[in-house]
Amino acid sequence: MKTIGTVISTFEGPSTYQFNFVIKEDSGEIPVHKGQFIQLKTEEGILIGRIDEVIKTNRYFMQAESVREYEKSGKPLMDMFPVDRWEYLVAKTTTLGVYNNGLMKRVTYPPSPGSTVKEVDKNILTDFLGLDSDGLNIGKIAFHDLDAKINLTRLFHKHLAILAISGAGKSHLVSVFVEELLERSEELGKPAIIVIDPHGEYVGFAEDENYSKKTKVFSKESPLSISASSLSPYQIIEFLPQISPVQRRELIKIIQDLKNKKKYYGFKELIKAIEDSEIKKVTKDTMISWISNLNITHLFSNVNYPSINDLAKPGQLSIIDLSGFNRLNEKQIIVTSFARKLFNARRQEKIPPFILVLEESHQFCPEGVERQGAISKEIIETIAREGRKFHASLVLISQRPIQLSTTALSQCNSQILLRILNPYDLKHIGESNEAITSDLIKTLPGLQVGEAVITGNAVNHPLFVQIRPRKSKESSRLGINFEDAIRSFNNGLKKNEKDLETFM
Ligand SMILES: Nc1ncnc2c1ncn2[C@@H]1O[C@H](COP(=O)(O)OP(=O)(O)OP(=O)(O)O)[C@@H](O)[C@H]1O
Ligand SMILES: [Mg+2]
Repeated sequence: MKTIGTVISTFEGPSTYQFNFVIKEDSGEIPVHKGQFIQLKTEEGILIGRIDEVIKTNRYFMQAESVREYEKSGKPLMDMFPVDRWEYLVAKTTTLGVYNNGLMKRVTYPPSPGSTVKEVDKNILTDFLGLDSDGLNIGKIAFHDLDAKINLTRLFHKHLAILAISGAGKSHLVSVFVEELLERSEELGKPAIIVIDPHGEYVGFAEDENYSKKTKVFSKESPLSISASSLSPYQIIEFLPQISPVQRRELIKIIQDLKNKKKYYGFKELIKAIEDSEIKKVTKDTMISWISNLNITHLFSNVNYPSINDLAKPGQLSIIDLSGFNRLNEKQIIVTSFARKLFNARRQEKIPPFILVLEESHQFCPEGVERQGAISKEIIETIAREGRKFHASLVLISQRPIQLSTTALSQCNSQILLRILNPYDLKHIGESNEAITSDLIKTLPGLQVGEAVITGNAVNHPLFVQIRPRKSKESSRLGINFEDAIRSFNNGLKKNEKDLETFM
């Protein structure tokens, strides 16, 4: 391994927590980077450290007065002395652990001043970071030519949150995950993937010949539909957040009676049953108006489409494309219904372990509002709390983490953070999980598109990753930018004028 420096003695160390080393400079090349991992030998084994800061020093420039005097005299220090030779770099390094015969241990003994610091061995680093040669390859570890292959169980078993500002690369990263999951070998096992896609961004998978066979898109045109008679009374009540406990009891009884009488029924029959019941007129009218509101969404019919077994298949990507629905309430009904069915079916082991990806999750599981604000909140929080026991995994994606339920967010034991600027969002993320340190938070505004930090359960130490380019097609619906849209609109206008002239 290449030598990159020598440990020095300072006031603070070397200690078991940190040490500094002077960097050996090679001509031209930048020798080290902030964030890079290094290794050195100590009595305990091979110590692995991370460079947290690189400082340039030059004793010629230490005294402010003398620098000023030289500058004033018109003879800058640069011209008078060989100052370049006295510039050197010091790397401040945090110790992360010691590696000894394949075992990782805490550092309990400091390195010696004078020890040689080396580039880290890739195999040791792979073990040390908890990467997995059979894992999902999402890019490269920054400053090390090493694939970021993340273990599937560690990443998804206890839920994942992907948070960043708009345009930072969240959906791109999810597409990379989907590619890796769809390409996974049968022997390694493939989960079912279900993506709730509010903007129709993922339909590119169905247009791409390499993935189209493994992809199914369900949309307003399919049409997505929920069979009213297959819903339990409790599932119907779930769509009526305004209901009081008394009304709830009464409505459950009416639905139960209807169920006993008829195997198949729609909301029209339910409305009739409410009309015929003996409850108070005011309550009747209120209930009827709620059920009528559900009925006019056209989401309910006498069939379930897709069926739960069509939706969750091993190695299949199912996209629930919500782009055709304008009302948030309709989108929430769909999310509530399918998330609930997926979770129930998984609890009974009727479907394979699944990964449910929820784009714009702050719209479906918001912080601070009661259930009236988002009917889907309860089931998302339930899966967040209990899903791991049943291998029902959530991937929550949001560009407004502060608006996302803290309950759901704190259950995501792995986080992938891309560029984030808003101080309130940064604070919320920091508070949601103890694994996210304030040092890590500070780095988030400086990340570029496609740069990510993975932290939490998925890896042993927070990891900077350059997310790889995607192989799959982007959805053709997202294709054009603002200027092209203006041009295309204007060309359309001109064509219409020409057609009109020809016609005249
Ligand atoms: N790792 C990457 N490599 C190359 N291009 C990338 C990468 N990540 C993102 N991009 C590009 O940046 C653009 C924005 O990415 P993306 O749509 O994933 O952002 P987003 O975080 O999902 O935004 P929004 O919150 O608005 O949905 C896309 O055109 C995408 O192709
Ligand atoms: Mg997106």
